[in-house]
Amino acid sequence: MKHVIAWHQLDPSDWAQALDASLRFAGEPQRWERRARDRSICLMFFNPSLRTRTSMEVAAAQLGAHATTLSPGAGTWQMAFADGGVMDGAEAEHIQEAVGVLSRYYDAIGVRLFASLTDYEQDSTDQLVTRFARAASVPVINLESAFFHPCQELADASTIVEQFDGDVRGRKFVLAWCYHPRALPMAVPNSAVTMAARLGMHVTIARPDGYDLDPSVTERATRIAAESGGSVVETSDRIAAFEGAQVIYAKAWGGRQVYTDAEAEAMKRSSLKDWRVTEDSLSLTDDGVFMHCLPVRRNVVVDDAVLDGPSAIHLRQAEYRLYAQKAILELIWKLDAVPA
Ligand code: CP
Repeated sequence: MKHVIAWHQLDPSDWAQALDASLRFAGEPQRWERRARDRSICLMFFNPSLRTRTSMEVAAAQLGAHATTLSPGAGTWQMAFADGGVMDGAEAEHIQEAVGVLSRYYDAIGVRLFASLTDYEQDSTDQLVTRFARAASVPVINLESAFFHPCQELADASTIVEQFDGDVRGRKFVLAWCYHPRALPMAVPNSAVTMAARLGMHVTIARPDGYDLDPSVTERATRIAAESGGSVVETSDRIAAFEGAQVIYAKAWGGRQVYTDAEAEAMKRSSLKDWRVTEDSLSLTDDGVFMHCLPVRRNVVVDDAVLDGPSAIHLRQAEYRLYAQKAILELIWKLDAVPA
């Protein structure tokens, strides 16, 4: 049984197989088939979603499977996660029972469980999604946890491979920190740097001082990049970072040093509003394309002119979410090869 929690926990051949499948599905976008007609998946969204929810529902339907989407606490019971807790509060059901029951109805469970942003130790070790997966007896797909977003990661890699016609190794990828009115979790940036490193790209993490990613993530990405022919550097020099870049991947995330102090974090961030992707900053790149996982705040994270301009590939990137979801379902369910 294969859980897809973070790609580095799986065999590299699983990643390679899923990436190939995602690109294959992109070549047959409207294909409806029945390879998974006897399968079902339950999608549990503890947090909001547009792309992940809909792309997984459509992916399941196009493969012939059934998907049920639940929003715990809204139509189903509020759930407790803690081991050994006394459940005398609002939570009426423990994940141990909920996931145990759903494992008996479904052939896979997807779960979205964002970072708490109040407990760095819990978030950085992805304790909640790990606990959730432990309670399951069917494969669990991480639909974005505190620290990783493997579905986004696969879609992003597919988009980049397609953009450069497979000639990706050695290109410059910039993860560009951007201002956002709220401190956001690190799952997407963590996944993005790991993904670009795995593709053998030269990765620059451009972020203000105090916004470095977790050392476990940068160290792993550096190791992976070295094996793939790429590299990873971090800098607070945005201009130098953008120069010669071929991919600008914009993302906001909260500061690690002030993680549990929302007020201090907000204060620190408020002076960083010029960390925004503009046409001027994009002109420093080597014909760089603009990527963002979405949702994105226009004229806060990135200017209209960039999003509506020829360099933006964020909608194709979002389209790839559907093909990546199909590839992940194919992987965990070990579906037979596509009939000729
Ligand atoms: N990028 C992404 O995961 O989008 P949603 O939050 O809308 O699912």
